[in-house]
Amino acid sequence: MIIDTERLILRPFVETDAEDVFEYLHKPAVNCFASMKLDTIEDAKAEMKKRVGETEYYFAITLKDSGKVIGEIDAFPEAGEPHEGENSPQDTFSPCWMLNLNYTGKGYAYEAAHAFFDYLFNEKGARRIYAYTEDYNKPSQRLCEKLGMRREGLFLEFISFVNNPDGTPHYENTYQYAILRKEWNE
Ligand SMILES: CC(C)(COP(=O)(O)OP(=O)(O)OC[C@H]1O[C@@H](n2cnc3c(N)ncnc32)[C@H](O)[C@@H]1OP(=O)(O)O)[C@@H](O)C(=O)NCCC(=O)NCCS
Repeated sequence: MIIDTERLILRPFVETDAEDVFEYLHKPAVNCFASMKLDTIEDAKAEMKKRVGETEYYFAITLKDSGKVIGEIDAFPEAGEPHEGENSPQDTFSPCWMLNLNYTGKGYAYEAAHAFFDYLFNEKGARRIYAYTEDYNKPSQRLCEKLGMRREGLFLEFISFVNNPDGTPHYENTYQYAILRKEWNE
């Protein structure tokens, strides 16, 4: 699947994306992506091999004019609530978005996320899209709000991605945002 916007092309990853992805995943910008850290270009190549073949829900965000991969966006279908039965519709999605920080502040994340939401709601049967974001992550909160997502709550000490210097879990406060298909189409 290819998603075409004014300045971007969202497309599946290919093996030759390793260098561009290494550029932003060598040092993940936020703790929630700490586990995605790539230490070497060889790790990046191995990671691209894993991503190849994922054609529906995981996209490289590329610049239309140069082809450079400047970030990524993904969301996979899930049931609306973890305790729902296994036959429940998989109509809920929670996107991850990340740009190479050299390309933020240009509206690219909004352009990519808007097109991705349109795709999920109109082509992939999404009923609800929700996003988690750290309470200190203002750019991500702002992006949620520009996409028309409602702030649904603040979960205190919700999750830990890294440890404190003394080895104990470093818990973070997390906002949840969401938007329904009927709200998106209004
Ligand atoms: C979160 C993240 C994706 C947001 O990216 P971003 O570039 O700040 O977001 P946007 O695409 O909305 O662009 C932001 C600004 O570009 C500006 N801009 C400049 N040129 C523009 C143009 N041609 N069109 C639209 N906006 C433009 C806008 O004014 C906008 O600022 P505003 O929100 O005050 O209006 C980015 O900060 C990031 O990758 N962070 C690290 C990873 C991360 O935190 N992920 C989320 C974890 S929860």
